[in-house]
Formats: sequence, C-alpha cells, structure tokens
Amino acid sequence: MEYNTKMLSPDKEGIRAAAEILKKGEVVAIPTETVYGLAANALDREAVKKIFSAKGRPGDNPLIVHISGKPDIYKYAREVPAAAEILAEAFWPGPITMVMKKSDIIPPQTSGGLDTVGIRFPAHRAARAIIEECGFPLAAPSANLSGSPSPTRFSHVVADMKGRIPAAVDGGDCAVGVESTVVCFEGDRDVRILRPGFVSKEDIEAMTGIGKVICDRGVTEMINEGEKVMSPGMKYRHYSPKAAVTLIEGSAEALAGYMENTDGTIDSTVDSKVCAMIFDGDEEVFLGKKYITYGYTSEEQARQVFDCLRRVDDEGYERVYVRSPSRDGVGLAVYNRLLRAAGFEVILL
Ligand code: TXA
Ligand code: MG
Repeated sequence: MEYNTKMLSPDKEGIRAAAEILKKGEVVAIPTETVYGLAANALDREAVKKIFSAKGRPGDNPLIVHISGKPDIYKYAREVPAAAEILAEAFWPGPITMVMKKSDIIPPQTSGGLDTVGIRFPAHRAARAIIEECGFPLAAPSANLSGSPSPTRFSHVVADMKGRIPAAVDGGDCAVGVESTVVCFEGDRDVRILRPGFVSKEDIEAMTGIGKVICDRGVTEMINEGEKVMSPGMKYRHYSPKAAVTLIEGSAEALAGYMENTDGTIDSTVDSKVCAMIFDGDEEVFLGKKYITYGYTSEEQARQVFDCLRRVDDEGYERVYVRSPSRDGVGLAVYNRLLRAAGFEVILL
C-alpha cells in the first residue's frame, strides 16, 4: 500500500493526530531519545503486522513494547525479578529495555512467537505523550528499512519510510543515537546484556542489589546460521550501508598507511570511491584522502555513527574503512553496531 505520509510536529496537535492514527490500528514513526521508532498498538496483532511489512522485517524478530509509566511492567510482564525493579528505578524513563516472561495480553506477533517480551519506558517527551494519549503500549522497532542503519534524524525516517506509512512525527535529532541496552535476567539478581546501549555494563554493575552482569556472547561474536540466540535481532546482518564496510583496529596513522599500501582498486586517491570513517582529531593524518569523522568521545560517536554510515552511501562511496572505536562504556554499543555493519569483517593493524 502506498501512503501519502503526513509529517507531524511534536506539539499538542501533532501528538493528538499521531495518536488518532495509532488508535485506528495504523503505523506511525515517532522520535525517541535513542533512535526513531516505527510504532503501532502492541496489543493489536493486525496493527503489529503492518510494522513488519513497512520495515520488510523477518517475523521471528520480536518487538520492544514501549510504556509510559513504570507500574505498566506488571501489566505486560508475568514475572518481574528484583533486578528489573532496581534497573527500572535507576534508568527509567530511559534507554534500557528489559526482557521478561510475557503476560497473555501480549500477542505472539509482538513477541516474535517468544514467551518473553522486551519492555521499555522511553524518556523522550513526545514519545511518552503519544503513548499516554493512545492509552495502550506501542510496539516499535527502529524506523529504518530492515538491515539499513537505524534512523537518528528525521531525514533518515523520511528517506526510508516516506510512502510506506501514514504519518511520521518530527522530533529532530536523537540525543543518544544508538538503540537501547537490551537485558534479560537470570534468577532474581543476575543480568545478561543482549545488546549494549547507552546504559553500560559499568552503569548496571554500579547499582546496589544487582548480582553478576554478563555480556552475552552475541554482543561481540558472530552467531552462525541456525544457531540458537537469546536475542534474535543480533543474528541478522544489520545497520549496513550499501557500501562495503571494514572495521580497522589500529591507530589513525596505521589506517592511513593501510589505505595507501593496498592495491589500486582499494586506495583512497581523489577520484576513488573509498573513504575512511575516523575520529575527530584524526583529520590531519588523512589530508588528501576522503574521510568522514564520527566524533571523538564515545557519546559523540554513538550520536553520529548511523548518520555517518548513511552519508557513506549518500556521498557515493563504495567502500569505507572505519577506525574501530573504544569499547568502554557506551563505546561497546558503537563497536557492536559497527561490527554488524561490517558483517564481522575486522582487520587488525
Ligand atoms: O532504542 C530502542 O530500543 C529502539 C527504540 C525505537 O525504542 N528500538 C529498537 O527496536 O531498537 P529493534 O526492534 O530495532 O530492536 C530490538 C532488539 C532486537 O535485537 C530484538 O531481537 C531484541 O531487541 N528483543 C526484543 N524483544 C526481545 C525478547 N523478547 N527476547 C530477546 N530479545 C528481544
Ligand atoms: Mg533495529
């Protein structure tokens, strides 16, 4: 179905209009503090199916259910471990999603057929207002076409979703820039990180009452075809521009040297379709080469990484060498997304 996508403002009128469309069982793109989401009524299986078709997403990948108040977890989760209460108190509203046993009102279309559900209370003012106005929780994956980089600017949503959905709410640029941290629980106190995000392992470990915090193997390792995974989203090639992405572990100098020494098809002379994605401050080393900078601190890199991956395509490059980020704090989330964008192709220099 082809839509004449309405562009809405995040003001009172826009929020009411978005809620009206959602109440009719349709899909609306909404801003959140992490990335834009493609929202529909999480309790309405027909509405949720429309998310999958707008995104072109595999049906076994579960959706996050977005709520507008902490007590709502007791409506949608059957069992709430002590650790979930601690994390909700510490980080909600905010960029962390908690996977728990689902209650029966969550339809299998929302949970990807799993017995669990990921729940998040977003911090973004407009997102919260829309959920409140609807009176039901919103299932929302990132509002990109399946496989492409997540949308962190309204222009990204327009590029991917114009014509595919009835409306999109313009909330400007997303403050965090990478998707929420996804965790599940082992027993009452232990936490397993399924997808790293802005709330880091260190942040979770610092909370009193939390037991062991484990990073799932899928965060930094490739999951083979057919292998069972805790978080289905982690098995897909993801976040990729059309250009070939290679992650380079090493200094700016080593990366610049590597680009010069490889044969003519993958060099970076003025006319070539090859660029580097480097840190702010590396520019001098890349004089005369094509490059895009993606920030210096991990927070800046989180905010810019998806926009930069999209720019690689927009600027016509066919190959990009990305200088691998620090893995501390939110850096692990940036690394995790780049690793998937690169299809796990990493070169150590
Ligand atoms: O920040 C975010 O989380 C954004 C905004 C819109 O809230 N949403 C988002 O959704 O990133 P999505 O669908 O692109 O990614 C959800 C991730 C996937 O990797 C999925 O497999 C995992 O969370 N997930 C969701 N429910 C799960 C469950 N019940 N068990 C395990 N993993 C789950
Ligand atoms: Mg996504």
